[in-house]
Amino acid sequence: MRCTRGSVMVCCALLFITWNALLVLLLRVKIPEQDVNQGSPEDEDALGHVMRVAEMLEAELELQNKILAQIRSMRPRGKKKASLAPSTPLDFVVPVLVMACNRVTVRRCLDKLLLHRPSAERFPVIVSQDCGHADTAEVIRSYGSDVTYMAQPDLADINVPPAHKKFQGYYKIARHYRWALKQVFSKYSAVIVVEDDLEVAPDFFEYFSATLPLLRSDPSLWCVSAWNDNGRDGSVDPAGSALLYRTDFFPGLGWMLLRELWEELEPRWPAAFWDDWMRQPEQRRDRQCLRPEISRTLTFGRQGVSLGQFFDKYLRYIKLNSDFVPFTRLDLTYLKRDVYEKSFTEQVYAAPVVTLEDVQRGSLQGGGPFRLQYSSMASFQLLAKNLGIMDDLKSGVPRTGYKGVVPLFFRGRRIYIAPPPGWTHYDPTWN
Ligand code: UD1
Ligand code: MN
Repeated sequence: MRCTRGSVMVCCALLFITWNALLVLLLRVKIPEQDVNQGSPEDEDALGHVMRVAEMLEAELELQNKILAQIRSMRPRGKKKASLAPSTPLDFVVPVLVMACNRVTVRRCLDKLLLHRPSAERFPVIVSQDCGHADTAEVIRSYGSDVTYMAQPDLADINVPPAHKKFQGYYKIARHYRWALKQVFSKYSAVIVVEDDLEVAPDFFEYFSATLPLLRSDPSLWCVSAWNDNGRDGSVDPAGSALLYRTDFFPGLGWMLLRELWEELEPRWPAAFWDDWMRQPEQRRDRQCLRPEISRTLTFGRQGVSLGQFFDKYLRYIKLNSDFVPFTRLDLTYLKRDVYEKSFTEQVYAAPVVTLEDVQRGSLQGGGPFRLQYSSMASFQLLAKNLGIMDDLKSGVPRTGYKGVVPLFFRGRRIYIAPPPGWTHYDPTWN
């Protein structure tokens, strides 16, 4: 006989009821034998005590009967499996897809994911490995059933234009993404993509849990990212761990997307440089991502395919959030498209315009926020360089930009680098 959790509970309940019933019967038989009127005060006390115990036991018996009825009504009927998974709606499950290749340090990524995830049912971890690197495969397999392992089957070199020989790695990454996303979206309706050189923050899952409903309900959002491109310690508000933004810049680096988006992108998925491709206007189609003030991922992959292009200058300094923000219990309606557009823009353009010299000299009056204005790519880049944030633009969009505005923190004050009022669109030639 199969012993399910349900049947054990029913057995326990039955044993308890039988025991209680026996006790009550015994007490009932004993009580009439005593002569209440002739007893001493001590006898009366004892009798009263026994009566109270009997009443309590009867009440207990009634309660047990109710619990038994509840247990019976909860028992799965027919041939349905009693395990958790089938009753968990697939839409509720958001797998984390870890993209791996030849880094055995994927262990650091996996350890943190498993440490911080609140539920294995809700957030299954799927590791997809490209590159066929045996030692890395061994590390992944050492996690046993804690992670699902899958291997990208096509390890052949890719024919690339001669000028792109050195970019072979970017072609392989794009091929791997296409294959892996196709696998996960054949089953799930939302996925969080994590690369093998990312470490996640304690509230990484809480952040994605809270923002999933926003992503699902708002067609002007196409992703939620854990990354702040300008999230260096010193460029963010240390007290702003609960603060979230909308951004026109696709940050990647720990991000969630829905199946509908994948179905839209898959037929056109590029052969290489998938992230910059997503940043093009034809793909982005004026949609935004959510991103945090303080990053929920940190990258430790200096030796990457891009050969640490930005690692030593920026990426290694990005601050990882350390406290746990209970996002699912916070009001996030300020992020809804219309509310956000109005309130964010008002806040930016209500801030007084100051000069770079004011900011650098520390001669700002009051607590802020303040606004620094730019009107060309060169003037944006000059401000960005001087304030220590990333100065590159992709398809005309600056990193973390929202309607041209880049928020940052500088020496304890909020500063917005902003185009003049009345901004209408990005200029894709600003690249
Ligand atoms: C950079 C981006 C990365 C993006 C990639 C492709 C940053 C910090 N990183 O990669 O988000 O995906 O460009 O445009 O901006 N990988 C494979 N197959 C390979 C080589 C690598 O699947 O042949 C995987 C790695 O395991 C990793 C990901 O691709 O998960 C990125 O590789 P990495 O070496 O970290 O390159 P970056 O320079 O960081
Ligand atoms: Mn990397």
